[in-house]
Amino acid sequence: MTVDMARVEQFANQVIGDIAAAEAGVLSYVGDRLGLYRAMAGAGPLTLAELADRTTTHPRYLQEWLAAQAAGGYVTYQPGGNGGGGTFTLPDEHAAVLADDASPVFLAGAFGMAASSWADADVTADALRTGAGIGWGDHDPRLYPATERFFRTGYAASLTSEWIPALDGVEDKLVRGAQVADVGCGHGASTTIMARAFPASSFAGFDVHDASIDAARTAAATAGLSDQVRFDVATADAIPAPAGGGYDLVCFFDCLHDMGDPVAAARRACAVLAEGGTVLLVEPRAGDRLEDNLHPLGRLMYAASTQLCTPNAVAQGGETVPGGRTLGGQAGEARLTEVLHEAGFGRVRRAAETPFTMVLEARP
Ligand SMILES: C[S@@+](CC[C@H](N)C(=O)[O-])C[C@H]1O[C@@H](n2cnc3c(N)ncnc32)[C@H](O)[C@@H]1O
Repeated sequence: MTVDMARVEQFANQVIGDIAAAEAGVLSYVGDRLGLYRAMAGAGPLTLAELADRTTTHPRYLQEWLAAQAAGGYVTYQPGGNGGGGTFTLPDEHAAVLADDASPVFLAGAFGMAASSWADADVTADALRTGAGIGWGDHDPRLYPATERFFRTGYAASLTSEWIPALDGVEDKLVRGAQVADVGCGHGASTTIMARAFPASSFAGFDVHDASIDAARTAAATAGLSDQVRFDVATADAIPAPAGGGYDLVCFFDCLHDMGDPVAAARRACAVLAEGGTVLLVEPRAGDRLEDNLHPLGRLMYAASTQLCTPNAVAQGGETVPGGRTLGGQAGEARLTEVLHEAGFGRVRRAAETPFTMVLEARP
């Protein structure tokens, strides 16, 4: 057997890059938590001492943190003169991604998901060995707020400005006053974003995870939306119909693929729709075949699917045979459409998309 040493070296370098990203990812998680990126945003060049002052962090550790950020290209370094004392800058473009929760490209919240994944590595190893499920609520608690921050960015950027307007006749109904269900709502980011945009409509968020429902209720109360939005613990296949009718819109945001029986969940959505109602299904944008998804986003989503989505579905009794109803985080449009058809939706179409997300509209 001859080994191509150039390829070995090239691949070893690739793995070094991955290990560096994993180690440095912890520092990004810490930087987000301690407000280091926020303190650097818009501040221009800062010396180590200036940043330490602004953040009440220890300069010796901060020196190493800044060096790691500079080596990773997250901040730029301007060397000082002979006396040392260089400066570090977080460019505005990087601040949009790392420091501003409200920016349409904010990503730093997702490092908390990685933190929870590392903490749960033994649990994941057990699941891989035994085939046992892991319920969404059984993970390291950093997962839940991080998931909200990860997905909120896309909802804030597109949900009410692009996705709902892309649905046939739905925006008008919401403006006039409609009943909406947000199934698998988690901390309710999508629910409250819609409620703010459509004050004449009523919103009901449902999730199987009681701690997420508690967090969603608190967020709605803080936002002054408690009269317009309610949150209840319910499984997707048993959500209650609204008093005196059906929902004009039932939404699934990045959750149908997590469910043990997605067909039963979609069937229940169909059953509780009002006449002329619509289902909005938001899922990670994936191609239908594995070979279509072999890129960094696919890598991220398959990794999350191994640790979160698939084990949750299995914990809910999801089928464990390949091709069964346990969809995984990269289900693809064809498989999702099949699920919706099987659940009773005659009309399914892709209504919108972003680089990360596909938006399907389903009507009976
Ligand atoms: C990836 S999180 C997405 C949460 C939220 N929709 C968001 O976008 O931030 C998936 C959510 O689906 C919920 N979930 C999973 N299976 C469920 C089921 N069978 N019924 C209701 N909720 C479920 C989980 O508890 C979790 O909150």
